[in-house]
This record gives sequence, C-alpha cells and structure tokens, in this order.
Amino acid sequence: MLKVWIAGASGQIGRALNDVLDPMQIEALNTDLDELDITDTDEVINFGTVNRPDVIINCTGMTDTDECEANPEHAYRVNALGARNLSIVARKCGSKIVQLSTDDVFDGQSKKPYTEFDDTNPLTVYGRSKRAGENYVKEFTHKHFVIRSNWVYGHGGHNFVNRVLAAAEAGNGLSVASDQFGSPTSAKDLAKMILYLISTNEYGTYHVTCRGVCSRYEFAQEILKLAGKDIELRAVPTEQSDLSAVRPPYAVLDNFILRIIEVYDMPDWKESLKEYMDERTED
Ligand SMILES: NC(=O)c1ccc[n+]([C@@H]2O[C@H](COP(=O)([O-])OP(=O)(O)OC[C@H]3O[C@@H](n4cnc5c(N)ncnc54)[C@H](OP(=O)(O)O)[C@@H]3O)[C@@H](O)[C@H]2O)c1
Repeated sequence: MLKVWIAGASGQIGRALNDVLDPMQIEALNTDLDELDITDTDEVINFGTVNRPDVIINCTGMTDTDECEANPEHAYRVNALGARNLSIVARKCGSKIVQLSTDDVFDGQSKKPYTEFDDTNPLTVYGRSKRAGENYVKEFTHKHFVIRSNWVYGHGGHNFVNRVLAAAEAGNGLSVASDQFGSPTSAKDLAKMILYLISTNEYGTYHVTCRGVCSRYEFAQEILKLAGKDIELRAVPTEQSDLSAVRPPYAVLDNFILRIIEVYDMPDWKESLKEYMDERTED
C-alpha cells in the first residue's frame, strides 16, 4: 500500500486524483486549506514527519492570475514557499514529490510548442511564483516530478468549461479570444498520468497536456456543441473577451519527454472533453 499525501485535495486536480486512484493500492492522506495551510512551515513539517508519506503531490496553489497580480506576497507565499515547505518534508522523509506547474513559466511569445528544454521567462506574478516553486522543489529534493500542464478543467473547478456553460445557461452571447492558443486538458487524464509517474523512478520535469491545439474560441465552440447549446459566439481579441484574463498568447506545451521515452500517451483533447461532458454532473 502506497501512502500518498495529496495537498490541495479539494481543488480540481486533487479531486480528480481521488476519483481515479485505486484505494486498494493507495492510501490517500488528503489535506486542503481548512486542515493544513501549506504556508505554515512548522505545521507542514509536523504533519509530514508524523505521517511519513511515500509520495507527496502538491495540488495546492493560488491559481487566480488576477489575484496573484493584486497580492504578490500571498502568491509567493503559497506557490513558492508552500512548495518549499513540502519539499523540506519530502527530503526529510525520503518521499517522492510531485509539483504541479504551468505553461505560465514561459512568456507565450513562441510560435512553436515549448519543450521541457526551453528556457523559462514568466511575465506574470503567477508564472514567476510557480517557477520559484519549481526551483525550490528541484533544489530541496532529487526524487521529484515537476509537471507542467495547461487549460485544465475538472469537476468542481472554476474553469473555462464551467464558465462557458454558465454563460450558455444564462442564454447570453459570448465573446471569446481567438488569439490565445493552448491544449485543453482534463484533470482526470492528468491525474491518471500523475499516478502512473509516481510508480516509476523517472524523475524530472514533464509537460503533460492532452494532444492537439486550439484557440479559446474553438475550445468554447466544442464545449457548446457537446452541450447542445446554441448561443451567439463571437471570435474576438483577448482584450474584448468576456472570459479570458490576459495570459501568455501561445500556451502550447510539447509533451516532448513523454514522446521520446515512449511510455505514456495522453488522449486527444476533443475525446477527453467529450468524456468529461458525458460524465458531468452539476457541481
Ligand atoms: N487549472 C489549470 O489550468 C492548471 C494548469 C497548470 C497547472 N496548474 C497547477 O495545478 C495545481 C492545482 O490546480 P487546480 O486547477 O486543481 O487548482 P484549484 O482548483 O484552485 O485548487 C487549489 C487548491 O489549493 C488550495 N489552497 C490554496 N492555498 C492553500 C494553502 N495555503 N494551503 C493549502 N491549500 C491551499 C485551494 O483551497 P481554496 O480553494 O480554499 O483556496 C484549492 O483547494 C496548482 O498548483 C496550479 O498552479 C493548474
């Protein structure tokens, strides 16, 4: 039985991990902000040394990019120092650690997908604080998996899919950015990949997104098609969009390492979205 501490268990990726893990093989120690604030160094070290997990998965985060700009101290406290605290525990207990990270560590100016070997250059507080978190994890532990993903949606999350559907329910037309590109990734598929990876010793940094690329506008089109909603959808530049904060325009990650080691393939984004929409209940 593998003991896995899921910090940020109530978030969309934390929930997805709990949905897909096999309880016969994994004992999950779930914590979220209510039980354990990862910025509290002593509490985090105490929880870790008492429970001695085999694996720590850091699904916590201050993920609202506008909030990060407005309150950078807190963004660095959660996204950077929180990751450091969990790394200290991982090192102390000899645990493997998974650090969730993001395409926002890149500047989004590229015209081709970013590989794990491209230089980072975050332009936002969110991106800079997440890169600082990655660096702490790499500095404090050697049994680490840094997993960068993007455009993640899952049950219970305040994500793009749910926001498009809410607007459609209200019967409003929508203006959506046609100049932002990414790979929509279901939290469930990401969770399956994480559970695979922790069973290996293939440490390092990975890009993990569903296959395929689209614009925000095309993503919204597909969501509405699958939901059977017929509302007016307008393709606009980011500044005129109803839904998108200003983000790196080209957020496309190449799952380069997964591809070259040929051990795991992510599904196509449209197939995953269909599965999510079929399963979706009102959260
Ligand atoms: N969503 C994406 O598109 C995406 C893409 C790439 C990477 N990621 C990364 O993946 C991770 C999880 O993302 P997600 O979409 O599942 O985020 P999420 O739904 O916002 O979940 C984050 C969880 O962390 C909790 N949390 C916040 N501050 C905390 C603290 N100080 N101590 C303990 N828990 C705290 C939150 O609690 P409250 O809700 O109570 O604040 C929430 O339950 C994040 O690190 C994010 O940066 C996300």
